[in-house]
Amino acid sequence: MTAASSRALVIYAHPRHQTSRACRQLLAAISDLDEVTIRDLYEEYPDFHINIGHEQSLLRNHQLVIFLFPLYWYSAPSLLKEWQDRVLNFALDEVPGRAGPEQDPLQGRMLWIATSVGASFSSFSAEGGNRYPLEQYLLPYEQTARVCRMAWQTPFMVCQARRKPESVLQRQAQSFRSILLGKLQALDNA
Ligand SMILES: Cc1cc2nc3c(=O)[nH]c(=O)nc-3n(C[C@H](O)[C@H](O)[C@H](O)COP(=O)(O)O)c2cc1C
Repeated sequence: MTAASSRALVIYAHPRHQTSRACRQLLAAISDLDEVTIRDLYEEYPDFHINIGHEQSLLRNHQLVIFLFPLYWYSAPSLLKEWQDRVLNFALDEVPGRAGPEQDPLQGRMLWIATSVGASFSSFSAEGGNRYPLEQYLLPYEQTARVCRMAWQTPFMVCQARRKPESVLQRQAQSFRSILLGKLQALDNA
């Protein structure tokens, strides 16, 4: 869905949306918002052939970019990585032949990660099986935001996503929606 007045662009990457519990709820909780444009990458590009120009123009027209995905091997599902590799290079200084007058096309925009993980919150600690805080696994995104001159937003995370009762997931989805509404309000007031 695309609205002319959209402020937030959701880049949704879930290879198994039909069986998703957590990401599906997060997406459903915000899909009615007028100011939100949702791109379902696996639905849009099942063959991985991304329309780079179109994606870049969407980025230019939104102030808040949200990557929504389940954590797969401490990273995003592969189509989001392909999207990053193809689409974000217009924001890199060192890309040869970069389009002339467009300097820092993403400057001042915000990047917000919303992700679900199978493991528990406590496992992402020195004592736990995952050894490091979840935020550390998201450092490549934080640094990508910095290089693209985007403002990094505190990630939204749903742990134990396959085990939580539906009611808990729904509550977390509503809190995701509330935080997003707060960000949209702040943009309206800016
Ligand atoms: C290929 C694959 C890799 C995964 N890697 C991780 C991982 O690195 N860490 C983790 O906590 N969970 C991992 N999981 C579990 C998913 O993150 C979890 O099933 C998902 O977040 C649940 O969200 P959903 O209900 O929207 O699918 C992995 C799952 C799959 C299928």
